[in-house]
Amino acid sequence: MSLTGKHILSCDLFDRDMLEELFLLADLLQPVARGHRVCRVLEGAVLGSLFFEASTRTRLSFDSAFLRLGGAVSDTTGVTVTSITKGESLADTSRVVSGYFDVLVVRHPDEQAVHEIASATHVPVLNGGNGGGEHPTQALLDLYTLRSEFARMGKSLKGSRIALIGDLRHGRTVHSLLRLLSLYEGLTIVCVSPPSLPMPRELLDRAARRGHRIEETDNASVGLKDADVVYATRIQKERFTSTETAFDYSADFRVDGALVNGVCKPEVVIMHPLPRDSTAGANDLSNDLDQDVRLAIFRQTDAGIPTRMALFASVLGVAHQVGSSLRDA
Ligand code: CP
Repeated sequence: MSLTGKHILSCDLFDRDMLEELFLLADLLQPVARGHRVCRVLEGAVLGSLFFEASTRTRLSFDSAFLRLGGAVSDTTGVTVTSITKGESLADTSRVVSGYFDVLVVRHPDEQAVHEIASATHVPVLNGGNGGGEHPTQALLDLYTLRSEFARMGKSLKGSRIALIGDLRHGRTVHSLLRLLSLYEGLTIVCVSPPSLPMPRELLDRAARRGHRIEETDNASVGLKDADVVYATRIQKERFTSTETAFDYSADFRVDGALVNGVCKPEVVIMHPLPRDSTAGANDLSNDLDQDVRLAIFRQTDAGIPTRMALFASVLGVAHQVGSSLRDA
């Protein structure tokens, strides 16, 4: 199935062939992402970047990906600078801005908002994170990174043990990542979280139906034992309701050198979508791993540009022009 003109709201849209095509395109665009080559297949196109929630990586890397392909970007950051504060509905806002742009990237704290916006536009909408729902492009760049880490080591994803640790209930990046991982074969997925912050059952059941082995534990040493991949996530304090308490889970769910060196495989890949919480006592991924070559977090952030470029080129129907449009910088 072609991605041209499609909304990218959930990782459920993708199959293995689509992922392989996107990743090949991302490989081709790597030199453009680094500024070593030029490719202007989006010249004349305009991106509307609508962020109703804080972001560093997602917003700026979407912008950079679009700009590097020759397009222009118009940013709206925060609901307070839109006419939504005057009572305008999301549907009206969406219909209006779809007359201005060729594609929209939307981040919103309400899980449903991105769907409302998509149903009212004439242009494709890319989900840049919808509340505790999904973050499809983060999962694409995570999987792209993971594949390249494994390829470098000559390892196959098949049969690997992947530990997802932290706030798996509110963590939209792990919801999307598990959807993509489920498309592969023979994985052991270990979910390590406080009992009150589990991975949604529906996602676990789906992965199990596809033949993956699923383990759940609230003990980090048990969960990370012999892990090939550790994917740490932040406790999403901002998503807790007033009746819940964001307990300080950090001591039990922090990934640090002692834990990794004590129980994981020696060649483990350590990942995190970032931001990591560096407030006192809350660091979910310890800085003591910062010089460790197994830490892939900045290779993940770098992968955000070529993967988002590949997605833009695909959704806007110019993917086939990329190869012939590459020029020296
Ligand atoms: N990983 C991620 O979504 O980061 P930002 O919130 O900074 O965009």
